[in-house]
Amino acid sequence: MVYKNKNRSRCELVYQGKASRRDILENTPAARLQPLRIRGEDESFSPQGWKNMLVWGDNLPVLKTLLQMKKKGELKDSLGRPGVTLIYIDPPFSSRQEYTASNGLKAYEDTLTGPSFIEFLRQRLLFLYELLTEDGSIYVHLDERKSHYIKVIMDEIFGEENFQREIVWRIGWVSGFKTRAKNWIRNHDVLLFYTKSPNFYFHKLYLPYPPGYRRRDGQPPRGKGYPLEDTWNCYPQDRLDSIQIMSFSGEKTGFPTQKNENLLERIILASSRKGDIVLDAFCGSGTTLSVAEKLERRWIGIDNSEVAISITETRLLNLRRNIGNTGEKLSPRPFILYRGFLS
Ligand SMILES: C[S@@+](CC[C@H](N)C(=O)[O-])C[C@H]1O[C@@H](n2cnc3c(N)ncnc32)[C@H](O)[C@@H]1O
Repeated sequence: MVYKNKNRSRCELVYQGKASRRDILENTPAARLQPLRIRGEDESFSPQGWKNMLVWGDNLPVLKTLLQMKKKGELKDSLGRPGVTLIYIDPPFSSRQEYTASNGLKAYEDTLTGPSFIEFLRQRLLFLYELLTEDGSIYVHLDERKSHYIKVIMDEIFGEENFQREIVWRIGWVSGFKTRAKNWIRNHDVLLFYTKSPNFYFHKLYLPYPPGYRRRDGQPPRGKGYPLEDTWNCYPQDRLDSIQIMSFSGEKTGFPTQKNENLLERIILASSRKGDIVLDAFCGSGTTLSVAEKLERRWIGIDNSEVAISITETRLLNLRRNIGNTGEKLSPRPFILYRGFLS
């Protein structure tokens, strides 16, 4: 892989097997979505007859189908404008591992490396860009292995001017085996935050001041709290440890790479309004969908792993109202489980 200066203002990542944008967008076949069953009860919030969508299948052809739906006016935000407002993806990281769920079943494998991995993700990102509303946002969750390559790819697709932040998520307290490395101890993931345009929706979030907090001049604070920075879980007021390092958490599903509800809560609150559509094209155990449900967003989830879909379906039918999955039971709004086939 080499970087090539295409013109003076842009860089391009060049590698073997890179297809043209046009070829991917035009020649990717669309998936046929076959409804398997409808789940959920509460009909109180389904604008324009909308039903949330959980799709079992390869996300590339399914994204093509979603793009066709957008063009037909079937995907609209809470203000009636075309597209999905927020995309969060936590794709394979090119970790060269196979992941098993706590029930012993294979959840998925993460074996693509080098140019194959980059092109796999780029093809999906091209569709994700097209699916966003004009004020929409995307967060791509990666780690140190591939985030730098994908940053260059996202600059190509979204434009460097629409790169907003690299968020460093400190995973949390590290113990045992990991601390034995003869190196700086690895302890963070990276989230690349891009928007479709400079006019993106953003609801700024604050952490409350600690009780008794005083300004330097001794006066009580006037503001809303500490505005959130782009480093998360890095200071005592900001508690966001990964559930992977917690021995007990009420939100654990047994899915090996499950992310925290409070991580998604932050992203969804900042970058979408109630009633907007949130999309997770690598939904795994359904964390994004569960939090979107709790925060009254509409949602679309896709995964090609039967284990992931089964865990997600069960999870959505057993939700608790609070983030962290505590509190009273929450009946989800109706959602349809589809099988995405190539027609
Ligand atoms: C890191 S996990 C996502 C975990 C998720 N964020 C959670 O909280 O549970 C990545 C997921 O991507 C899915 N995946 C990988 N390739 C895919 C593809 N081509 N289409 C759809 N899903 C895919 C895997 O099955 C896996 O569930």
